Amino acid sequence: MHLFFFLFILGSLTASVLSITKGKGDKDECATKATTEQAFLTACFRGNNERLQELLALSCANSLLAAKEGVSAGFRFGYTGLIWAAEKNHTKTLRLLLEYRGAGSTLASYSTNNGISALYHAARLGNLDSVNLILSKDPSNVINMPVTYGEHNGTTPLLAAARNGHTNIVKILLNSGADPHVRLPETGYFPMYFAAKLGDQEMVKELIRVDSPVNLQTSSGVSALAVATAWGHQQTVDALLIDQADPNLVDVFKTSPLHRAAYYGYTNILKLLIGKGADVNAQNLDGRTAMHFAAIGGHTATLRALLPSCPALKTDKNSRTALEAAQLEELNLSKRKTTSETSEKLRKLKEVLNILKGYSPCN
Ligand SMILES: *[C@@H]1O[C@H](CO)[C@@H](O)[C@H](O)[C@H]1NC(C)=O
Ligand SMILES: *[C@@H]1O[C@H](CO)[C@@H](O)[C@H](O)[C@H]1NC(C)=O
Ligand SMILES: *[C@@H]1O[C@H](CO)[C@@H](O)[C@H](O)[C@H]1NC(C)=O
Repeated sequence: MHLFFFLFILGSLTASVLSITKGKGDKDECATKATTEQAFLTACFRGNNERLQELLALSCANSLLAAKEGVSAGFRFGYTGLIWAAEKNHTKTLRLLLEYRGAGSTLASYSTNNGISALYHAARLGNLDSVNLILSKDPSNVINMPVTYGEHNGTTPLLAAARNGHTNIVKILLNSGADPHVRLPETGYFPMYFAAKLGDQEMVKELIRVDSPVNLQTSSGVSALAVATAWGHQQTVDALLIDQADPNLVDVFKTSPLHRAAYYGYTNILKLLIGKGADVNAQNLDGRTAMHFAAIGGHTATLRALLPSCPALKTDKNSRTALEAAQLEELNLSKRKTTSETSEKLRKLKEVLNILKGYSPCN
């Protein structure tokens, strides 16, 4: 814990104690504005609803709702009680604040200088009730607001909810005008990327329903289809292909979704990709084709599923065909200590070699 933060809590504690010993007289508490504001922010931070209700009963309650943390609060500079309640996931506290008669839409829509809003936290933490409460107070000017600090830079409430797999919240945000085209500045991650990586079928369908672009790529060129393939999410791959995902988009290493399916031995996914026109002869930067990956990996079923498409006998950057690369893999493996794992892989590689020795590409 940062020292300033410790001092902040300590300060607030003292403040609370002071205000209690002084009695709960409205005049006293509202007269010591700074102290009372700090007590209020602390009550929100802690989810101390009893204290909060006392404070909200004061004549200066409206100014407390608008009170903000000072610069000593670090990146929490500018936090209101509502943002504290959201960050600490205190649903009841948040409800008390938003249902207070003086709490207008500005309270819910308020964000700090670095883009942090109550909605951002509630979406990030998967707090459906809080998200609904905040949205009911017109959050139109924060729904697409990105936070602008540190590793979270560029994260909107939608990206935060999608990344953390909060499907219901993604749905509600999209229905309330969240932009599905949004991307993180450095990685280039986008909502569909997260949904596809998680294999969250409901989230994927929701994003498709609002016409999320299906062929976006991250900064390293990874598409939603590629990431769904790499994680073996067959249903997601299917849904994306039906939504016209391009099976031939490659990443910066020229790795295609088909390469990934072959590498991991996902036979069903490989078939789906080929069915939608994946190029069986595509080579990555190392010159490897899907046949190389399936062969080296010892994925015999995947290899058999690939061959009816008549892939050409391409050579990799070391001038090896898939057969030659698999032979080298076998040699390499046979020099290593025998374990049940290596002997199983060797058995599969032998089968691969038999399959490939009998293979000749059609014209
Ligand atoms: C936040 O609160 C909600 C509602 O109580 C709960 O479902 C969710 O898991 C909480 N999130 C975290 C990160 O604790
Ligand atoms: C956040 O990302 C924006 C691009 O969207 C960039 O201009 C800015 O410098 C970044 N800020 C930080 C703190 O990384
Ligand atoms: C042989 O196996 C080792 C250990 O897995 C690996 O580092 C090396 O790259 C392999 N060599 C070839 C030529 O595949």
